[in-house]
Amino acid sequence: MLPAYIPNNAAVLAGGGAPIDGGRTVGGSRLLGDGKTWRGTAVGTAAGVALAVGLNRLAPVVAAATGVSPPTFPLPAAVGLAFGAMLGDVTASFVKRRTGRERGAAFPVVDQLDFVAGALACAALIDFGWFAATFTPPVLGVVIVLTPALHVATNGAAYLLGLKEEPY
Ligand code: CTP
Ligand code: MG
Repeated sequence: MLPAYIPNNAAVLAGGGAPIDGGRTVGGSRLLGDGKTWRGTAVGTAAGVALAVGLNRLAPVVAAATGVSPPTFPLPAAVGLAFGAMLGDVTASFVKRRTGRERGAAFPVVDQLDFVAGALACAALIDFGWFAATFTPPVLGVVIVLTPALHVATNGAAYLLGLKEEPY
């Protein structure tokens, strides 16, 4: 899941510049808001794909050292996970704006799982064979249980470090 986890964090570091929605509003609320930028989305996606490429190179080393083969990421799957994570986050912002939540407002559960849902859905659409072989039911269960905990921890840390304006 690392190629799906890193994009949001990279976007926080790289974010800024022109918002994707160009300032457009729908029914008085922003389409997405200033928190979803072209640069954050592009850098986030690139960071996830780059990490996947790095993990692919590391996989034989890990397998030799531990006897356990970690998953590898064909390029389409890597793009699906990384871009899907960003798309899930953007989709959640769209829903937040439509439900009266301002930029930065908390949306419990959605904030913690939007990028997972986007990443898994995109990876499955792009490379279903790889997805089904990699995300077996027990793996999916672990991902869905552990991700919210990891998300709360990393965002809390980013908040304490002054990188993020809210701890979620
Ligand atoms: N960010 C970005 N582009 C993205 C996602 C995030 O530039 N596609 C950057 C923005 O600077 C954003 C920060 O990362 O403010 C934190 O992301 P997030 O918490 O997802 O955005 P919010 O500002 O909280 O906005 P929203 O309420 O729409 O989630
Ligand atoms: Mg936020």
